[in-house]
Amino acid sequence: MEKLNARKRNILNSPKAGGCCDEDSIPYLKDLGIEIVDKKQPIQFTPNFSEHVHRWSAYIQGFSAEFVQSTINKYHKEYNCLRILDPFAGCGTVLIQSKFSGYPSFGTELNPLLAFIANVKVNSWDVSPNALIEMYKSIPKDISKAPPTFLKSKDQFRHGVLKNIEKIYGGLDFITVKNKTEQKVKDLLKVAFSSILIECSNLKRTPCLGYSKSKQIIDNAPWMLMEKNVRIIANDLNIIQKHFADKIAVDSQVVCTNAMTYKHPNFFDLAITSPPYMNGLDYVMNYKIEMGWLEFISSQKDAKKIKDEMVVCDNVSKGLIKNFSESNSRYTNDWLDDIVLHIKRNIDRRGNYRRIDMPFIVAKYFDDLYKVMKNVVNALNPRGRFILVIGDSLIADVYVPTDLIMARIGRELGLEIEKIERARNRRSGQVRSYRLRETILTLRKDKRTDG
Ligand SMILES: C[S@@+](CC[C@H](N)C(=O)[O-])C[C@H]1O[C@@H](n2cnc3c(N)ncnc32)[C@H](O)[C@@H]1O
Repeated sequence: MEKLNARKRNILNSPKAGGCCDEDSIPYLKDLGIEIVDKKQPIQFTPNFSEHVHRWSAYIQGFSAEFVQSTINKYHKEYNCLRILDPFAGCGTVLIQSKFSGYPSFGTELNPLLAFIANVKVNSWDVSPNALIEMYKSIPKDISKAPPTFLKSKDQFRHGVLKNIEKIYGGLDFITVKNKTEQKVKDLLKVAFSSILIECSNLKRTPCLGYSKSKQIIDNAPWMLMEKNVRIIANDLNIIQKHFADKIAVDSQVVCTNAMTYKHPNFFDLAITSPPYMNGLDYVMNYKIEMGWLEFISSQKDAKKIKDEMVVCDNVSKGLIKNFSESNSRYTNDWLDDIVLHIKRNIDRRGNYRRIDMPFIVAKYFDDLYKVMKNVVNALNPRGRFILVIGDSLIADVYVPTDLIMARIGRELGLEIEKIERARNRRSGQVRSYRLRETILTLRKDKRTDG
């Protein structure tokens, strides 16, 4: 209680209360010699819930299909055989829109569940809708399989609901496939299954996973939701095969790998991405239920192993940050040194903070993103563009202009800062009266800096 009051007091007395990112960005913008232009744009995933293919999975951290489409429309004529990259592919928004537009694309994604979902979403367009419905109908209703042992399924689902999920799980497991085509059908059923889990649980994602007091789930909900999802997918396949038949063979692939270390063997004209936000979501723990039931992980240890490789978030293990703090090779610059120092001073002055190693988390975040940016820049064709949707942060009363730091890194890696557009304003999670922004940063590889 004492701690909570101290935290509340710090927020109430914050020198940043009522402030905004614009004032705090002035010195950085001056340094870079650029301006931020206001251009409201749709960048959130929510509208995708009603879009074909995107809606096959309930992944709310993705970004807007409309935004990706408008980016492709804006630039496609400038390139001969446009190839698109997303280093943080998530559930495949960039790849899906690239394919609908007829352009080959490639993604990297470290979460195996998300990489699987993204691949199924782009590589199942030739599956017969009837074959999907038939395989769904063939799921035996009386074979149960026990839930993953490391999950607290009895708390996460009501008893009657859990019994039905176990039956779908067991039934799916029972289906054997004889060839690649049948495997594709089964994978679609697995995607449909992954999408019912949170919906019929006692949990909600807002966007972090937490228990919901108000949810009332009926026992039969898993079967009802499963059938609904299967019919949605079958309907979308019908539409694709009728109206986008010429796009079915367009090459799209997501590799489950670490974007910090992956060296691309191919070149791209557009890299469109949205990196994890600092302080943001834990992309493993938030999906551990689906990862467990789809058997991508079988213990908390498996989850931690993947999490430790991700771009850092603020609930990463203390050991990982300690190791980082002791290493002496990392990306930094004078802005970052100053930001990290100020965060440290403010935390020392307060005497408490939710993570006292926050200065190192911030330093690691940019070191991680630097590595990814370097790999992407190396894989860009001359005149290629790197377009990032990014949010800034306020940490221990220190403003962190993530977009401008990324712009600077881009410039250091030889890219030109073509523009920065403010797509929307948002509020700081800590000091609600402080205004932050979400921007679209466009970097461009100059012909001279090629290679
Ligand atoms: C903001 S989300 C991207 C969402 C995506 N634009 C979409 O629409 O689905 C960031 C993604 O980066 C992934 N990620 C984090 N660290 C990674 C790493 N080191 N290598 C590859 N992917 C990573 C996360 O799992 C998450 O899916």
